[in-house]
Amino acid sequence: METVVSGIRSTGNLHLGNYYGAIRNFLKMQLENKCFFFIADYHALTTHPKPDDLHGNIKQVIAEYLACGIDPEIATVFIQSDVPEVTELYLLLNMNAYVGELERTTSFKEKIRKHPDNINAGLLTYPVLMAADIIIHKANKVPVGKDQEQHLEMTRRFARRFNMIYGVDCFPEPDAYNFGKELIKIPGLDGTGKMGKSEGNGIFLADPPQVIRKKVMSAVTDSGPAETNQAMSEPVKNLFSIMNVVSDQSTVNYFTDKYASREIRYGELKKQLAEDIIKATDPIRNRINDLLTNNEYLSKVVKEGADKARASAARTLKEVRGIIGYKSF
Ligand code: TRP
Repeated sequence: METVVSGIRSTGNLHLGNYYGAIRNFLKMQLENKCFFFIADYHALTTHPKPDDLHGNIKQVIAEYLACGIDPEIATVFIQSDVPEVTELYLLLNMNAYVGELERTTSFKEKIRKHPDNINAGLLTYPVLMAADIIIHKANKVPVGKDQEQHLEMTRRFARRFNMIYGVDCFPEPDAYNFGKELIKIPGLDGTGKMGKSEGNGIFLADPPQVIRKKVMSAVTDSGPAETNQAMSEPVKNLFSIMNVVSDQSTVNYFTDKYASREIRYGELKKQLAEDIIKATDPIRNRINDLLTNNEYLSKVVKEGADKARASAARTLKEVRGIIGYKSF
C-alpha cells in the first residue's frame, strides 16, 4: 500500500473537466492507497493575500470533493492550515532550498509576469511548502497534472537533498500517480483548448441546470459541415467529445449521422448535450447542495481529518527534529 498526498486549491471548484479528467479516478485510488486529501489554504495567500471568502471557498470545495465520492472514512480529508506542523517542516526545508533554483521555477516566473506588483517570498517558496505538504506524510505518490510536474520534481530534489545532507533515509522520493489510460480530456466550450477554471470556459459541477443550459447554448460552433470531406472543425469536435462522455451511444450516433449527411442543426445538438450534462451531473449536484446544508457533518469530517493528518505529520516532524539535532534538555 502506498501513501498518496493530493493538494487542492481552495479556489479549485470542480468542473466537468476535473471530474472526468481526474477526480473520478480518485475513488479507486483511495481504496488502493493510504490517501491524504487536503485544501491548500496557505498556498492560496501567495496570490490572494486578502481572499474574498477563504472559509466559504474551503467549505464549498470540500463539499464538491465529498459529493464526487471521496470517502472521509477511507481517506484523510483535511485543511492545510489545521495542520501547522507543515509550516515547521517548510521552514526547515527552506534552509536547504536555494534562491536560484526557486527563481528558475516556471510557475514563479509566470506569476511574477502576471503579478509584478506582488512578488512575495511566499510565492518564491511555494514549491518548498508543497514539498513539505507531501513529504511530511512520507508520500510515495502524488496525482498531479502537467502544470505541477516541475513542483513534484523539486519535491524529489528537496527530499533527496535532506537525506543526503543528514545522511539518513528519512523521506521517500515521490512519483506522479499514474492513472494509466483512464484520463479523459474534456475540452472547453470556447472552441479551442481544454476546460479550465482560469480559462473561463468551464461547466462547474455546482452550476444549476439553467446555468449549464445557458453555457452550452452559447458554446462556439462553426457555420455548418463543409461540402467536401474536410475534417470537423475543432469547436464542433469538442462538443462531440463532451457528448461522447455524457450521452448515450444512440444519441452520439444520431448526431454523427446528421453531421455526415450535413443535416445537423447545432442548436438541436446543444439542447441535447445540455440535458445530458445535467443528467450526468445531477446526483453530484444534489449531494453538493445537501452537504452544504450539513455544517455539522462537514465540520466533523475536517476535524477528524485534521486529527489524523496531525498525528502523521507530528510523527515525521519529531523524527526530523531528532535528525537535525534539536533535542529537549
Ligand atoms: N500546487 C498545487 C496546485 O496548484 C496544489 C498543491 C499544494 C499540491 N500542495 C500540494 C498538490 C501537495 C499536490 C500535493 O494544484
